[in-house]
This record gives sequence, C-alpha cells and structure tokens, in this order.
Amino acid sequence: MEFSAGILGTGSALPEKVLTNFDLEKMVETSDRWITERTGIKERHLAGPQDTTSTLSVKASRKALETAGVAPQDLDLIICSTISPDMPLPSTAALIQRDLGARACCAFDLAAACSGFLFGMTVADQFIRNGKCKHVLVIGAELLSRYVDYKDRETCVIFGDGMAAAVMGPVSPPSGILASDLHTEGQYADHLYIPAGGTASPASPETVAKGGHYIKMRGNELFKVAVRNMEEVSRRVLEKAQVCADQVDLFIPHQANQRITEAVRERLGLAREKVYSNIDRIGNTSSASIPICLDECARAGRLKRGNMILMAAFGAGVTWGAVLMRW
Ligand SMILES: CC(C)(COP(=O)(O)OP(=O)(O)OC[C@H]1O[C@@H](n2cnc3c(N)ncnc32)[C@H](O)[C@@H]1OP(=O)(O)O)[C@@H](O)C(=O)NCCC(=O)NCCS
Repeated sequence: MEFSAGILGTGSALPEKVLTNFDLEKMVETSDRWITERTGIKERHLAGPQDTTSTLSVKASRKALETAGVAPQDLDLIICSTISPDMPLPSTAALIQRDLGARACCAFDLAAACSGFLFGMTVADQFIRNGKCKHVLVIGAELLSRYVDYKDRETCVIFGDGMAAAVMGPVSPPSGILASDLHTEGQYADHLYIPAGGTASPASPETVAKGGHYIKMRGNELFKVAVRNMEEVSRRVLEKAQVCADQVDLFIPHQANQRITEAVRERLGLAREKVYSNIDRIGNTSSASIPICLDECARAGRLKRGNMILMAAFGAGVTWGAVLMRW
C-alpha cells in the first residue's frame, strides 16, 4: 500500500475556569497533599454553564482543521468519542458537523469512555486505508463535571473537562498508524458507571434524589485492571509492529492517575523522560485526555517527524487499547 493513516493536525479546547485542590478542600474532606500524593493532580478545568460538549469540541476541531490545512467541507467522516454528550439524541457529532459548517458527511458518536479516542483513531484508520475516506475528524470530548458529585471525594478530585481533536488522513509510510489493539470486558461494567438517566433507570425525582445521575467508581479495582491491561496492550502493539520498547520516543498514557502512569512506565521499562504527563494541570478528562496530550506535544515541538509514539488507555466498560504510530 502506498499510504497509511496518520494525523494531519490537532487542536484542543479547555474551559477557562480552573478548580484547584485548595478549592476542593473547601468542598469535601480532602487535602491538596492527599490528592497530589495519591493522584498527581493539582488542578482541573471546569466548563461554564453556557459551555456544552459540542461548543467546546467545535473550538478544538477548528484549531485541528486549521493546523491540518483542511476545510470543514473536505471532511468525509466525523467521529466524536464522548460519554458526556450534549443530549441523548441527536449525536454530538451531528451538532459538531452542523456548527463547523461541514458537508453532510457521515458523523457519529462513539462510547468507549477513556479509551474512546484510541477506538476512534482505529476506526478512522480502517476508513482511510480502505480508501472510503480521505479526511476524518476524530474528537475526544468530555464534560464530566455535569456527572460528578462534588460531595463524593473519591471522584470529584479526579475528573476534569476538556476537548481535543485530530484530523486524520493519508500519509506516506513509514509515518502513520503501525498497529492498534482494542478490548472491552463488560463483566467489569460496575467498576465505573452512571446508574440512571438511561433506559435501565430513566430520570425521575427518585433517581435525582438518590444521586443516580452521578459517576460511581470502584477506584481500587480499576487501578489494578488499568495497570495490568495498559501494560499488556502496549506490549501487544509493539509486538504486532515488531518494535522494541526502547524504540519508543514518546509514551502518551491516558491521564488517569500519575501512579498508574508510573507503574505502567516501570513495567514497560521506559525512561521517565519519554513519558508525557499533564495530569497535574488537567486531571482525568476521559476520552479527551490522550488527544489533549497529543496537541500539547505537537504545539510544543515535542513530536518530530519519524518519532515512534505509543498511546495506551483504559476506562469504563471496562475498555482498554493502544495505538502505535510514527509521526
Ligand atoms: C481513586 C484513587 C485515587 C484512590 O486512591 P487509593 O490510593 O486507591 O485510595 P483508597 O481508595 O485505597 O483509599 C485510601 C483512603 O483514602 C480515603 N480517600 C479517598 N478519596 C480521598 C480524598 N479525595 N481525599 C482524602 N482521602 C480520600 C479513602 O476513604 C480511604 O480511607 P480509609 O483508609 O480510611 O478507608 C485510586 O484508586 C485511583 O486512581 N484509581 C483509579 C481510578 C481511575 O482511574 N478512574 C478513572 C478510570 S478512567
């Protein structure tokens, strides 16, 4: 094949408001010290009342399109990875398509929680390589603050809001996606979930009174699954592409907890300086986490042509996956 699928441009958008650990100390029984030591997070961004997943995604997408030099009318597919859509229907991707002024191309949402951007990249890879699409906009967008209980100290310290996008298209080898690997194991669905608001438990005064619309998390169990699965799936993509861990120039893990990142890094035997982390400033933004990192790295000149980039994520479902690409 004369081409692979790669990233042509990235963009991100963070809401202006910042919630620090010191702000949280006033809201729940916690401390800056506990949050910093146990998670690595110092602050996170929170959307304002006027912001929605789609409005901030449009900002991120415009930056990605501009960087890629691709017009909205030239998009062939829009994939929005989110578990915090503007509304149950239509899809957030449809709203983004409308507000970008893109043509009536295929657009849909993808729900794979924190692994969603890597799932989206892998779907885009198929469409680009089989020639069905030239330009695919893949968005990772979460406005989780609408689903966080700011009385639950186990979750409110972790999550933040953010959006990022990548325009993907054909690139000349050896650049582009080299390997990807995706998984879902529904038997752990109750490790991270929102009980109400869907068909199983439609919104009612009772679901609201019980806090059923907030994120419920079993942090300890998730921690163990995350470390094991992110290591395994990273090894699998390296093996598929016949690349050694020491050939990786940059590892971008899902920003869930700095201790998870550190444990995975150690198990993979990667040098500390090869691992990107922004969790101290951004927190866990679920499917936006990896593309925000990518955009920061691209804009800071940290991604050089030919660099080997490994990305790995895990999230609710549970889902997990990895993508190995050459910039
Ligand atoms: C949630 C998480 C940070 C908790 O850290 P931990 O080191 O596992 O802490 P534990 O759950 O064992 O709790 C230790 C103690 O701290 C307390 N604690 C929990 N949250 C706290 C907070 N924000 N501030 C202060 N104390 C807290 C617990 O109540 C517990 O107290 P106890 O010993 O008196 O019972 C960690 O498990 C984690 O990051 N898990 C992965 C979660 C994740 O990634 N979710 C998103 C998936 S994409």
